[in-house]
Amino acid sequence: MPKVRFMPDGFVADVPEGSTLLQAAKQCGAPEGDACGGNCACSTCHVYVRQGGGALSEQEDAEADILDKAFAVLPSSRLGCQAKITSSPESEIVVEITQESREAWVNEHPEARHKTG
Ligand code: FES
Repeated sequence: MPKVRFMPDGFVADVPEGSTLLQAAKQCGAPEGDACGGNCACSTCHVYVRQGGGALSEQEDAEADILDKAFAVLPSSRLGCQAKITSSPESEIVVEITQESREAWVNEHPEARHKTG
């Protein structure tokens, strides 16, 4: 089963193929924002794929359009709600949750604010 590690905190999820990175984040409690509920409309689920990007679905035009609205977009940028795990790589998929996404998560989870500073 594919394993996804979320940096900088190191949360790890084991999820079946077909899952999105956002679903993996939710499974392990990683602080990835999802203000639009995973509907490709907000960019708060913006992550950088550090390893294992070949195991992910290709980026489609709708995702690219929303990523245009995100901060600090890099070639490794993906929307967690749109990047689907399509195969099981031999090593982990490693993803870094962007500052923008972490802040969105804290805004969505005010009860956790004291834990993340
Ligand atoms: Fe809104 Fe991914 S959760 S674009």
